[in-house]
Amino acid sequence: MKFLFLFAFYTIVYFGFVSGVDSGYRTYENYKYIKVQGDRTGIEILKLALQDKDDSLVYSDTRDGAEIVVAPDSEILFNKIIATENLNATVLYNDISEIILMEKSMRRRNRKFSWTAYFDIDDIYGFLRNMSETYSEWSELIVGGQSYQGRSILGLRINTPGSKDSPKPVVFIESGIHAREWIAPATTTYFINELLTSNDPNITALRDQFDWRIFPSVNPDGYHYSYTVDRFWRKTVSGFGSSCFGADPNRNWNYNWGQFSSSNNPCDYQIYAGSQPFSEIETRTLSSYIENISNLLAYISFHSKAAMLLVPYSDSTKRIDNYDDLIQVGKTSLDYGYEVNKKERYGGPGTAAEILYKASGGSMDWVRYTLATPLVYTYELRGNSFHWPPSRIYEQGDEVTQMMLGLATEAQKLGYY
Ligand SMILES: *[C@@H]1O[C@H](CO)[C@@H](O)[C@H](O)[C@H]1NC(C)=O
Ligand SMILES: *[C@@H]1O[C@H](CO)[C@@H](O)[C@H](O)[C@H]1NC(C)=O
Ligand SMILES: *[C@@H]1O[C@H](CO)[C@@H](O)[C@H](O)[C@H]1NC(C)=O
Ligand SMILES: *[C@@H]1O[C@H](CO)[C@@H](O)[C@H](O)[C@H]1NC(C)=O
Ligand SMILES: [Zn+2]
Repeated sequence: MKFLFLFAFYTIVYFGFVSGVDSGYRTYENYKYIKVQGDRTGIEILKLALQDKDDSLVYSDTRDGAEIVVAPDSEILFNKIIATENLNATVLYNDISEIILMEKSMRRRNRKFSWTAYFDIDDIYGFLRNMSETYSEWSELIVGGQSYQGRSILGLRINTPGSKDSPKPVVFIESGIHAREWIAPATTTYFINELLTSNDPNITALRDQFDWRIFPSVNPDGYHYSYTVDRFWRKTVSGFGSSCFGADPNRNWNYNWGQFSSSNNPCDYQIYAGSQPFSEIETRTLSSYIENISNLLAYISFHSKAAMLLVPYSDSTKRIDNYDDLIQVGKTSLDYGYEVNKKERYGGPGTAAEILYKASGGSMDWVRYTLATPLVYTYELRGNSFHWPPSRIYEQGDEVTQMMLGLATEAQKLGYY
């Protein structure tokens, strides 16, 4: 009886949240999530046709095709082009709105910060604050920059007291630059928690070796917008209020800006590169913060969901001078991660140009080019449709923790610190 009452109560709150209070929420009701494989030209024809019908088309390119969110009234067109272009289509979710609602519902029942639900930006920042207070002798809250809506880009510096003679090498973690890749901030806070609370001597050694600067969500406005309005939002929200707003913050850095996999159309839902390099306050302020760091050994960026490890440069197949080292360190990192769950092997390591698709204006390329940082990586975590079951966040959290350990171990072997 009591149970039934509670159930009814939650149902009302839950649907009220979706349809009433938050009436702007995009439900994606009856949108299918479809994996398409085949020839690249055919895939591009398909994307362009669908985009022509609906300029907020959600897609994500993969090694052998793309994953596309297909609106109910685009299905006929979709099927036609699949046939004429000889593509293969596999429906991964029949109604993506069910996944979105499930993720949202988790939040209602579980307000205390944890890794069994996805939390909004204020809760993530609350967690950072709490950790900086609980472990005040080891860590401090840091501000890496500002957002369009006036948020700070908050991070945690973890720098345990070490020997006084030399400063520790800095490891920088940038996460969540793409708003909808929710697993990235979640695994990053998980990793912070591991660094600060684990008793595993390998992890405490990992913590003590470096001066960590860890930013779980460097696109906080976009994340909040994805959390509260549009689950598939990827960009910043600059120019919010006009009919087309936001830019892709990982196409906005000042290195080869605007060249590959970038759009100059402000209405492009996914890859508008911004009006100029560093047009976005998030990338502009964060890049200044990064430039200021001396002794930067490693720059690591977390995305999802291609399950891959990428090295610079993303828009070229030319090999950088320590490419072989990066591959060796990256392989060990992936091996350590795979040992945890033995679930899915990551692709790579390799350049995006080699193993995914060419993209310009990303943070990793700018850091490597501008600062000559020795170890630079982008980890594409796992998932379907940017979704990862909240009850299994710990899986990727543990994988990432081991990946960082593998990276540090192999880099030390090669004499990087
Ligand atoms: C499409 O599917 C068929 C049958 O499963 C397979 O033989 C073919 O290799 C697939 N083509 C592509 C491009 O994935
Ligand atoms: C703050 O951290 C402590 C120690 O880990 C934990 O017990 C407490 O629940 C946390 N509080 C919040 C609000 O996260
Ligand atoms: C710590 O690392 C060593 C050496 O790589 C390994 O043999 C050991 O199993 C690790 N310990 C734990 C608890 O993972
Ligand atoms: C760079 O460092 C200087 C000197 O410590 C400081 O005054 C300045 O605010 C820093 N700039 C940024 C963007 O962090
Ligand atoms: Zn991404």
